[in-house]
Amino acid sequence: MTSQTLREARKYEEATETIVTETERPVFHLSARVGWMNDPNGFSLYQGKYHMFYQYYPYATYWGPMHWGHAVSEDLLHWTYLPAALAPDKIYDRDGVFSGSAIELPDGQQLLMYTGVALTVASDGSRREVQTQCLAVGDGTDYEKYEHNPVLTHEDLPEGFSRYHFRDPKIWRQCDGSYRAVAGSLDEEGSGQLLLFGSEDAFSWHFIKTLAANHGRYGVMWECPDFFSLDGKWVILTSPQDMLPEGFEYHNGNGTLCLIGSYDEEAEEFTEECNQAIDYGIDFYAPQTILTPDGRRVMIGWMQNWDTCNLKASHEKWHGQMSLPRELSIKNGRLYQQPISELKSLRGEAVVYRDVIMEGRCTLPGVYGRKADIELTISAVEGEPVYQKFSVRFAQNEEYRTLFSFRPHECVLKIDRKFSGSRRAIIHQRRSLIPGGENGSIKLRLILDRYSVEAFVNDGEQVMSATFYTPLEAEDISFAVNGRAKADLTFYPLA
Ligand code: FRU
Repeated sequence: MTSQTLREARKYEEATETIVTETERPVFHLSARVGWMNDPNGFSLYQGKYHMFYQYYPYATYWGPMHWGHAVSEDLLHWTYLPAALAPDKIYDRDGVFSGSAIELPDGQQLLMYTGVALTVASDGSRREVQTQCLAVGDGTDYEKYEHNPVLTHEDLPEGFSRYHFRDPKIWRQCDGSYRAVAGSLDEEGSGQLLLFGSEDAFSWHFIKTLAANHGRYGVMWECPDFFSLDGKWVILTSPQDMLPEGFEYHNGNGTLCLIGSYDEEAEEFTEECNQAIDYGIDFYAPQTILTPDGRRVMIGWMQNWDTCNLKASHEKWHGQMSLPRELSIKNGRLYQQPISELKSLRGEAVVYRDVIMEGRCTLPGVYGRKADIELTISAVEGEPVYQKFSVRFAQNEEYRTLFSFRPHECVLKIDRKFSGSRRAIIHQRRSLIPGGENGSIKLRLILDRYSVEAFVNDGEQVMSATFYTPLEAEDISFAVNGRAKADLTFYPLA
């Protein structure tokens, strides 16, 4: 039975979505139907379609009591909104239906596993959010919350684990038909950890063990975990809160963390081998992955960040968009990301430039726009000293610009959106180390979709994502070199 709260949300989104005109949204990035969007939830394949749910507050462009928004797609680029899937309407989730995941059950139903949030008064009189794990079952549009919710509470956890930070279950089905889920939590010391749970039937759950522990290294609470095998390794993705910076790898605040290691499936023991950030840009958080029918591991993240989500368009009608779907792989112990190959189907006619010697400021005829796929290879001019700095500027006119600049002598690539129209004192720049860039060679693939850029560096060894809400008439693209550089560029407008 659909609750009053969910009915109201569905009525509201249907009535108000038309206020957002087509050009006020990204084209192939999923954005909030109305109101506010954060984390991807329940990213899954169900009955031949990709489903994406998301943390959603339809009534305003800021965070509020969380619902689950819902959209479906056949190619992960064109999305159709469905009615909101879940609302905070039960005693155990009355203050929020937080992040979670989805799978198809053997009986053909879709199972959602999420965190229910209920504010309670703690013994010291403070109001605290108790977080529990809950289920809902449905047909791809309508969902019924499980009558025995919550299925996991802090009572199921070892002594001392937090009842207030226990969230974001990611569920999967194992080859033997049993189920596993991993969720974020805080241990006795208040340090983040990821907990592994098991179930024979997907409804009755028990704690198995701590799958990975922070031990105070990367931030505090670890949010939104995912866990999967990839190219002979095992990968944990998580989003730590309250991080401290570490060189160019991790930055202050909410960040992303990828742990690569091995997994003893019998003993269910993960051994960490190395770690890295997932995205080195400004806006990326809480990614989830799926395995496509043809065996690709594809990741989508929230292309925003808690520390920077005050970046708003004026007269904003929606807030929050997802990243591009990205195909993942592991090479030499690193996570690589590439835009999903389906993106090529949106490409218009190519504008191609080869061996262009750039010096000072320049533009290239036919290269402009806010929806584009740009392949750009820069190198030093043979027989000449390596250039000092190369920049590519976009979303540009006399007033605005956002840019990437590369300084080979420092091996640093920087995004700068200071002049994107933002009126907030938040982070507008971030730097990433590009090992091996000393000789001036760097390969960039830039994807623009009206209000964002994602840069895939050197075939996806690093990725930097950022949003900007620059007026759409700023659509110039230009280049600047201190010194001389050689450029190969292929530009595709995107439909
Ligand atoms: C991560 C997060 C999750 C939580 C959700 C609430 O961005 O904080 O841990 O489930 O957002 O909206």
